Parts: sequence; structure tokens; C-alpha cells
Amino acid sequence: MKENISLSLKNTESFVAVEEVLAMAQQAVRHLDALNNGTGAGSDFLGWLSLPDDIQPQLDRIEKVAKHLRSISDLTVVIGIGGSYLGSKAVIEALSHTFPSLIKGKHHEIIFAGQNISEDYLSELIDVLDNRNYSLVMISKSGVTTEPAIAFRILRNHLEKKVGKPSAGDRIIAITDSRKGALRKLADVNGYETFSIPDNIGGRYSVLTPAGLLPIALSGIDIRMLVDGAKSMEPLTRNNRNAASNPSLLYAAVRNLIMRTGKTTEVIITYNPKLHWFAEWWKQLFGESEGKEGKGIYPASADFTTDLHSIGQYIQDGQRILFETVISVKNPGRKLVIPKEIDDSDQLNYLSGKRLSEVDHNAETGTILAHNDGNVPVITITVPELSAWYIGQLFYFFELACAVSGYILDVNPFDQPGVEAYKKNMFALNNKPGFEEAGKKLRERLK
Ligand code: PA5
Repeated sequence: MKENISLSLKNTESFVAVEEVLAMAQQAVRHLDALNNGTGAGSDFLGWLSLPDDIQPQLDRIEKVAKHLRSISDLTVVIGIGGSYLGSKAVIEALSHTFPSLIKGKHHEIIFAGQNISEDYLSELIDVLDNRNYSLVMISKSGVTTEPAIAFRILRNHLEKKVGKPSAGDRIIAITDSRKGALRKLADVNGYETFSIPDNIGGRYSVLTPAGLLPIALSGIDIRMLVDGAKSMEPLTRNNRNAASNPSLLYAAVRNLIMRTGKTTEVIITYNPKLHWFAEWWKQLFGESEGKEGKGIYPASADFTTDLHSIGQYIQDGQRILFETVISVKNPGRKLVIPKEIDDSDQLNYLSGKRLSEVDHNAETGTILAHNDGNVPVITITVPELSAWYIGQLFYFFELACAVSGYILDVNPFDQPGVEAYKKNMFALNNKPGFEEAGKKLRERLK
């Protein structure tokens, strides 16, 4: 039997008592029941709970479309923002070669766009696309989000000019709502191949829908392993009412108890740069789900050991408002040993013969102890290795924990009302029809 990801609270024990964590996790079983029975806040958005099963009938078509795009192009621009790009970006970065465009051999490149409105970013992307044979995957659940819509308009025009409208139509896939939104209309009018994001799944919970799985399949990663990994967490989390052995309930409980001691920022720590974007996915999941009504734990991230030489100082010694969650990968995918040198002029012979992973693990252990000494509680999540299966486990574990944690905080973890504030101002300042009055008021304020 395969080992699972695991949670250790050893380095939180001197901050919150194990008994307290167990008691809160046990109380949180009612939140688990509310999720399973659809009786909690946001119960229209629980489709992700059974997604590992529900997505199965679509996997063949996702793989077929990915194969088709790979056969007619060597690069795909995936357009989307927030939950419509962070999940696939996280998996692709975690499981691909770190320098994909610099190594020999044919591989399908994925570039993301529509996650900003930067004129430089898109112009420089167009410099690249002028000379490349590419496809477009446009992802927007609402079908009306400004950032990806602008990128799609510009890149669609570029592609149509480059290969002609009919051929462009064959290279564009739209992933959106099954009925509503401008993107659905556009896709229907132009006859693009489409996939739907179910009504009952919000963006940040959508990585196992076609929104996440098509870009991941395009990059050559085994989406079935990813989904199976997520599925394997169901008995341990969703269907496990025994709080003491349910890692999602324990994690939700411990982070809330730590927050109540005044530590209101959680820093997710990774020791492998491949997990940088997984941390970005995690920040969106928890930030948008919990940060409302003046509540929530602020989600931050750091890449160690890199950031130990920058914000490491703050973590060790600054305001005592932080706790950490370390994602510790046990076995590296590659092997590299530090060589011995006769003259030892760089004084590193004490490390010779050691693998880099051993030195890195010692850095991790030493840092956890140092941060504990500096009054920073540390939660550890151990991942046996970086693979699609384990990333799938992490997704399901965190999604369930986030939903339960939101209920502990007494917020709806499935809405994001705060995101609308900047949009209204942006529409008003850009003279979007219907926002004229608001525009006038804002311009007054700017005088
Ligand atoms: O989690 C969410 O719901 C958001 O982050 C959305 O994913 C993001 O705003 C993009 O929305 P859409 O897919 O509708 O373009």
C-alpha cells in the first residue's frame, strides 16, 4: 500500500496543547457533516467534494483534445486568472523540468497569460508568438473577467492573422460556464471546442475540472494519477468522522487555535522551488476563502532556503505574529552528491559524499528548531515524493481543510465578495457603460 501525505503537530505542541487541538477537531466534525449534507454556508458550491469521481467520464475527451493541440502546435498559451490558472500552474511547475525550454527533446510548452493587464508582458509574449506555432486555451468560469478577456481578444486577433480564421478556430479551446457569459457566446458563434466548469464549483476549487486538467494534460502530466491521488484522500478526510485521524480536521483546528494566540499570519514554506506555485495556489485558496468580514488568517509564503537570506530574519526575530506550515518532500526525484576536493580550499569537505537532499533536510530541521526557539509554531506536512498522485492528495487535503476552517471562522468559504470592490473602480475609471456616475465620483476623489 502507498504511503500517504501526513501531518505532524510536534512543533506546535509548546504553543497549543494537543488535547485542545483534538477537542476543536472533534467539534469540527459537525462542519464536515455540514459539508457532506450540504447544510452549511455556500452549499451551492460543493461540487469539488465528489469531483474525483465526477470528472472520470470527461478524462478521455480532455486527453484527446490535449493530444490534438500537441499534434498541431508546439506551444499553448493558457489564458486565465485566479482559480482559472493557479491550479494548473502549480502542477505544471511542480512536475516539469525546471528549465524546460533549455533542455533538448520535444516538449509542449505552456505559457500563461491573462493573469495581469501588463502591456509589457503581453507585448513581449507577442514577440515570442510571432515566431511560434501555437494554440490558445481560454479559461473563465464567468466568461466576463476583464484581465483574461483582454488577453484573449488580443491573442485571438494575433492567431487569426497568423494562421487564418478557420485554422485559428481549430486551435482555440474555451473552458467556461455551460450556458452563461460572453465567452460561452463567443465560443458558440465561432464553433470553438468547449469544456464546462460546473455551476457548483468555484474557481479556486476547480483544479480537477477541465479548467485545471486540460492545461496539465497538455504539458504531458498524467491527469489520471492526479485525480486518483485526490480520490485517495476521501476516506481519510471527507469520509472520516474520527477527528484524531483526519488530517484536514486537525490542520483546520490547529491553525485556528494558533491564530487565537495572536499569530494571524500563516507562512507556507517550501524547500523545493518546484513548489513555489503550489504555495501561490494555496494562498489563493485560503485568502479568498477565509479573508472576509474582518476575519481570517493572512496566507503568506516563502521559498527556503532562498528566503532565509531575506525574510528569514523577520521570521526569526520580527513581530511575533507568524506561524509556519512546512511542506516537506521526503524523497527528491534526482540524485546529486557533493564531491571531495583534495585541497578543501572552499572548506566544504565536511559535506563531501553527502547528497544535496541530506544537506537540505538538515537545513529544514535546523530551521524548524530555530523558528520554534524564536516563538514560531511550525506545522509540518510530509509528502513522500513529488508526483501527480501526491499533488492530488495535497489538493484534496487542503481544499477540505480550507472549507472546514472557513466554517470554524464562521464565514462562507465559497464566495469572494471583496474581489468586486477593485473591479467596480476599474470599470468606472475606464468608462464602462453603466459606471459613469461612479467614474465621476472617483475622479473627484483623485483631484
Ligand atoms: O476563486 C475564484 O472564484 C476566483 O479567483 C476566480 O477564479 C477568478 O476571479 C477568475 O474568474 P473567472 O474564471 O470567472 O474568470
